[in-house]
Amino acid sequence: MLNSTESSSKPNRIKIPFLLDIVIVSEPEQIRKIETSGDVERLHSYETSSLPWWVKFYFSATKFHDADRDLWFCPFEPTSNPTYEPRRAYLQQQVDIGYGEEDVKKIASLLKEDADEEVLAQEMVQVVNRRFFGKEIPPSITQTAKNTLQKLSEALVPWKYTQGKKSQKQIMDYCAQNLPEGVHILDVGHNIGEVVQATVGALKTLKNHLEKPVEEIFTSNAPTPQVIRIAVNSSDFDGLLSSPTSPGKTVIILKIAEAAAKTNDISFTFSTGSEERACVFQEFFLQFMNDLQGELKKAESGEPGHIKSG
Ligand code: HEM
Repeated sequence: MLNSTESSSKPNRIKIPFLLDIVIVSEPEQIRKIETSGDVERLHSYETSSLPWWVKFYFSATKFHDADRDLWFCPFEPTSNPTYEPRRAYLQQQVDIGYGEEDVKKIASLLKEDADEEVLAQEMVQVVNRRFFGKEIPPSITQTAKNTLQKLSEALVPWKYTQGKKSQKQIMDYCAQNLPEGVHILDVGHNIGEVVQATVGALKTLKNHLEKPVEEIFTSNAPTPQVIRIAVNSSDFDGLLSSPTSPGKTVIILKIAEAAAKTNDISFTFSTGSEERACVFQEFFLQFMNDLQGELKKAESGEPGHIKSG
């Protein structure tokens, strides 16, 4: 019998000399192997100015990077960056404040009513992000947050690219003006975009799978398709690649959602197949989805005390 590594396909590579070099990995064991190889790192282990041109071009129109202020979202920082630990700790502390029963009931009632996506996004953004601002986030910000780029191919469409940059700037300016002194504006701004672009879709997925365990739903439908790393050493990862990576140039895309679906392992939904540097929102997300599922089921079965829409 073949073991999983022998039977699995090798990573894909798109290499155009002097232009770009991208390795795409979707086999769960290959993702784990590359992540723990010591030969790849978080993007911002290199100065922004020395990153591949297309990385700078694309990411400046996403929620992960602010080119004007040279800020990157926390997971893009290597653990060795002195800002990493305190930034993660701050986000964890804020997320650990949790949510209230009214939050679950409010979202359940909007889902039952089939409320517009914009209305659902506006409410869910408050549940997750009000805590950082101490007040409601205005609809103009949640609406613009859907426009930052989510796919590399979108960077090739000029109006989408321009809209992505504009949206990112609007969110960053709002965060700079409204967050308490000392809070990392990109770390928080990112979370508005994440809720609008990923969590709202996840709420609908949950509603369509009320009978399944929450972990199973979100391994089959992981909201984050992929994460990115950069080569820091020249390596072929024990023969996985036909030619070695170039440090500072080869970018590695780890397709974690595919890995989550293949393995049913929730640590691919929130990380790269281990607890190491897992998403600080994982526990909140799973607990909230469990509570919401319970609320929606109660409503479906007509149990007394459920929330009635309309
Ligand atoms: C559906 C919602 C979300 C999903 C599926 C998700 C998924 C992920 C994934 C896959 C990573 C790993 C990134 C990497 O290895 O490069 C990550 C990291 C992280 N996420 Fe989330 N995320 C979500 C929402 C959020 C929210 C709302 C917050 C903050 C309130 C957050 C904060 C973080 C932080 C701080 C990290 C970095 C952890 C570290 O590197 O130590 N995430 N998330």
